[in-house]
Amino acid sequence: MKRIAVLTSGGDSPGMNAAIRAVVRKANFHGVEVMGVYHGYEGFIDGKMELLDLGSVGGIIQRGGTKLFSSRCPQFKEDEYQLQGIKKMKEAGVEGLVVIGGDGSYRGALELTKKGFPSVGVPGTIDNDIPGTEYTIGFDTALNTVVESIDKIRDTATSHENSFIVEVMGRDAGDIALWAGLAAGAESILIPEEEYDIDDIISRIQHGIARDKKHSIIIVAEGVMAGNELAKILKEKADITTRVSVLGHIQRGGSPSARDRVLAGLFGAKAVEVLLEGRSGRAVGIKNHQVYDYDLEEAFSNKHKADLSLYTLSKELSI
Ligand code: ADP
Ligand code: F6P
Repeated sequence: MKRIAVLTSGGDSPGMNAAIRAVVRKANFHGVEVMGVYHGYEGFIDGKMELLDLGSVGGIIQRGGTKLFSSRCPQFKEDEYQLQGIKKMKEAGVEGLVVIGGDGSYRGALELTKKGFPSVGVPGTIDNDIPGTEYTIGFDTALNTVVESIDKIRDTATSHENSFIVEVMGRDAGDIALWAGLAAGAESILIPEEEYDIDDIISRIQHGIARDKKHSIIIVAEGVMAGNELAKILKEKADITTRVSVLGHIQRGGSPSARDRVLAGLFGAKAVEVLLEGRSGRAVGIKNHQVYDYDLEEAFSNKHKADLSLYTLSKELSI
């Protein structure tokens, strides 16, 4: 291959820029040019891209978001638009694609590969919910943002002897809630993967009050229910008054952590290697400290499994 392309798609995540940089630098190292496609698959369909040289990815390793912009592009699910994009790419001499995104974006990459356009997936999502990799780019940064926020909430919760509910992102995956709950010492954590027990949540708050604890923190993943809904249930069922903080999109922004930058470097470089070795329809991931590549289809045919031993441990540690 002499020229490849890179795009970012789906929800952005901190570290995507570092991954773009790694793709460009690694490819250039091997004498291969890289086109940056703008606005995810939208730009792919329209051929909206430009050459990324060494300098154009300078000064972005520390920046959140994505320099290439991202989008949700529903029409890309249709063959017609995929084929239109492939045509545009081939006309521009592009022979392969690195897709940085989540499992939805991976489906697009597989379709392209099946249609003869070699594509490789790099896991970029704060949700940490891609099967086949223990970590995704952006999870560590989002987790640290959540933990810093909870530490701040805890200060005011303690001062006013309040119970707080903190709603975090995670429609289908509880990783952010789980890890943040453990890191911040939350009394209860509600995740989509586990049935919650409202009586247990109530008794933990009441037990805390009885032993003169100054605050309680309950973390709820958005996929379980809204923080305000939980507040209403606690009020109605046990007359417990809580304050609610919805962290929202601040979780997706900010300068990537050192860990996410390193992961982005490893994954971006590996994706280029895979393409240059003439392989495609692959995703890159990390398992037991080893970066490797695996079948793209595995990444969305299987379901991500959160580490539920953390859930059990958090219950034991927050008595
Ligand atoms: P994420 O990649 O973060 O999971 P989405 O699920 O929104 O985010 O997917 C991002 C984009 O990937 C979609 O807007 C669409 O362009 C593309 N995509 C998703 N599913 C498919 C599919 N089945 N076939 C082709 N492209 C898809
Ligand atoms: O997939 C990343 C994510 O941040 C999820 O945690 C969240 O549910 C979703 O994206 C929010 O997406 P949007 O910004 O499109 O509402």
